[in-house]
Amino acid sequence: MEVVIAPADELARLAADTIEAKLREKADAVLGLATGSSPLKVYDELARRHTETGLSFAKARAFMLDEYVGIAADHPERYRNVIETEIASRVDFAEGAVRGPDGLADDLVAACADYEAAIAAAGGVDVQLLGIGTDGHIAFNEPGSSLASRTRIKTLTQQTREDNARFFEDDLSQVPQHCLTQGLATIMSAKHLVLLATGKGKAEAVHQLVEGPISAMWPGTVMQMHPHATVLVDDAAASRL
Ligand code: GLP
Repeated sequence: MEVVIAPADELARLAADTIEAKLREKADAVLGLATGSSPLKVYDELARRHTETGLSFAKARAFMLDEYVGIAADHPERYRNVIETEIASRVDFAEGAVRGPDGLADDLVAACADYEAAIAAAGGVDVQLLGIGTDGHIAFNEPGSSLASRTRIKTLTQQTREDNARFFEDDLSQVPQHCLTQGLATIMSAKHLVLLATGKGKAEAVHQLVEGPISAMWPGTVMQMHPHATVLVDDAAASRL
């Protein structure tokens, strides 16, 4: 695991550099996209490079980490819509090239299996962007998630719902209770993991991620077993290292 401590703008450039290098080496690369506030500067940087330098996503595909269950199709906080707004619509992905787990499917179990099959059929994810929750969750793999888990339905913890209420007019009752999420083993199948964390609120999760014992109670610690994991953190998030 490599840990880089730098200001947030620099971290975003480094993450964008990794994605750009992959796309230049392999135009049909498979990218793993994350939601939350952590990757937003990366998406800004990629959109800028697309516009100013012609960095192309036309042959690439992308898979999202997770999705709320039961959120309206047109809700701006539906992760599929967030990804469309923050990155997909700002670059030149082909129609249908960006996929997420279908949180509106009638058969959610089948939707999870379909999603795993789609990732496998694409040849797996080349570069996976990740954030981390204050309780150490990655994607929506909350504390207690099996390290061997694959895409499945999960119940969100009170902590995560409170953390995410800021995206729902600070109204906890509007935050969905369930989600579909890639499992920890799904995420670990990606060839390169790039995790971003900034701010003091992430310091404990980053401490556990980098220095704690591998444990389902701090799901991000599974990354210690990945052969190519990069952790990009600012001073505040690194303050307990
Ligand atoms: C959500 C997402 C995670 C993300 C986490 C942290 O729970 N499902 O993928 O890592 O939030 O979000 P933020 O980056 O906004 O702190």
